[in-house]
Amino acid sequence: MTHPTVHVPAAAPSRPGSEWWRTAVIYQIYPRSFADASGDGIGDLRGITDRLAHLQELGIDAIWLSPFYRSPQRDAGYDVSDYCDVDPVFGTLADMDRMLGDAHARGIRVIVDLVPNHSSDQHVWFQEALTAEPGSPERARYLFRDGRGVDGDEPPNNWESVFGGPAWTRVTEPDGTPGQWYLHLFDASQPDFDWANPEVQEEFRRILRCWLDRGVDGFRVDVAHGLVKTDGLPDHLPPLDADSMGGGSGDAPYWGQDGVHEIFRDWNRVLAEYDGDRALCAEAWLPTVDQTALWVRPDEMHQAFNFSYLMTPWDAAQLREVITESLRAYPAVGAPSTWVLSNHDVIRHATRLAMTTAVPQGYGIGPASPDQPDPVVGLRRARAATTLMLALPGSAYLYQGEELGLPEVIDLPDEARQDPTWFRTGGTRYGRDGCRVPIPWQADAPGYGFGPSERSWLPQPTSWARLSRSAQEHDPDSTLWLYRTLLALRRNASLGSGTLTWLDGYPADVIAFRTDEITVIANLGSEPVALPTATVLVSSGPVDGGMLPPDTAVWLSVR
Ligand code: GLC
Repeated sequence: MTHPTVHVPAAAPSRPGSEWWRTAVIYQIYPRSFADASGDGIGDLRGITDRLAHLQELGIDAIWLSPFYRSPQRDAGYDVSDYCDVDPVFGTLADMDRMLGDAHARGIRVIVDLVPNHSSDQHVWFQEALTAEPGSPERARYLFRDGRGVDGDEPPNNWESVFGGPAWTRVTEPDGTPGQWYLHLFDASQPDFDWANPEVQEEFRRILRCWLDRGVDGFRVDVAHGLVKTDGLPDHLPPLDADSMGGGSGDAPYWGQDGVHEIFRDWNRVLAEYDGDRALCAEAWLPTVDQTALWVRPDEMHQAFNFSYLMTPWDAAQLREVITESLRAYPAVGAPSTWVLSNHDVIRHATRLAMTTAVPQGYGIGPASPDQPDPVVGLRRARAATTLMLALPGSAYLYQGEELGLPEVIDLPDEARQDPTWFRTGGTRYGRDGCRVPIPWQADAPGYGFGPSERSWLPQPTSWARLSRSAQEHDPDSTLWLYRTLLALRRNASLGSGTLTWLDGYPADVIAFRTDEITVIANLGSEPVALPTATVLVSSGPVDGGMLPPDTAVWLSVR
């Protein structure tokens, strides 16, 4: 395949309604695991630059880079110690500029991760807070509180960390006495900022500008629903079945508070100072589509991951409902839906869609989990699910490796696991390492060509040669070719800005709709379904004799 060099126009804002992010397919790069140029077993920015041609060939519009900032890497970079610099493990600022320039020259936009809920405990502000007095301006950038109980030796409230265990850690004061406690919704190495403090607000305007000035096209905003906590930090224990990120719990005093919207409006104004339709995308785990839609009102964020869609099981009625709800709720506030099936925090959809039990976000799956999904069924469903998703109007995010059909790595050895969730729960929750295993590029190279050596920060399964990019490159039935075909057809038919009409007359476990001149039919049932007479444009699996097998989806031309 040859591709002309395209230059991304950095011009005045587009006509409202035609901005790039409304329809873009955005590919998530998790830098540690994408491609390693240095040979230390951890992916880096040069590795990404070296592989941009593959992404151009795949046919995506933009990439989202998970954090590459200075960080002790206690939560794989989501613990930032310097927001405007690159961690040496990933390279240098010059490497970032080169990557950004090369991506733009290929017509690929780049959004970066912004981590505003917390910093690393090694951030200079937190180090200053530790040596400062209780009540000092240095402590006021974070959420330090006195403890409860006789000597203040009980945490200020009963909140639990998303990664397990208490959400508070006690410090030792500079004079050696046991001191105040600080809040960390995640690991103890990730202290939460106090977003009521104007100094924190100003610092994040500066951080946004330092990357906007370098030319990034926008930000994916980490834990966007967690920045504001209810005044007084009241006790709260989520119901036992609640999702620790807030997806199902509704009333936690630290998720989805109204005050967050003022922060996003402020950032929206900062981005509007720049040319080229820069965009904000919220990571916000909220109970309903309608609540998530509030995040993307015209003067706030531009996108918010549709996690209600991601969490929907492989069930036609439930999927139809969440799609219908999404196509009502987001356009009602003038926003696109932002479809997504996988990312670095959830069980890869090539595994998840074959599971028979629902596992809360972030808990993961491992060798002792009761549910051991069938990988063949999982891959078949994943291919069908992506075929369905990429026809839907709006934007879509892909997660690196899903175009190879990678499954979750379930049998990682305990000693290899690195997710703080694993350590903070004494190994009772496996966590997210299984979706973060480095990408196999080359079937016959050491480490499957992830880097120049066979080093890999998480071990790759011995069975991954057949899933490597090189093994799929010339196989028209491969998952890689399915993604390429879907993306090319989606672009040609402008499906991202299409309109969806449900089609009647199919069995209940079939999803059928028309979008512009394409009919999409997905069979989620257990019996083959007769297809109408039409040209098959693309199919997620073999279609024989006009019958659509179970767990298969097609796009038909109805021209
Ligand atoms: C988000 C990130 C996740 C990280 C957490 C804390 O959910 O996606 O990977 O661990 O925030 O920053």
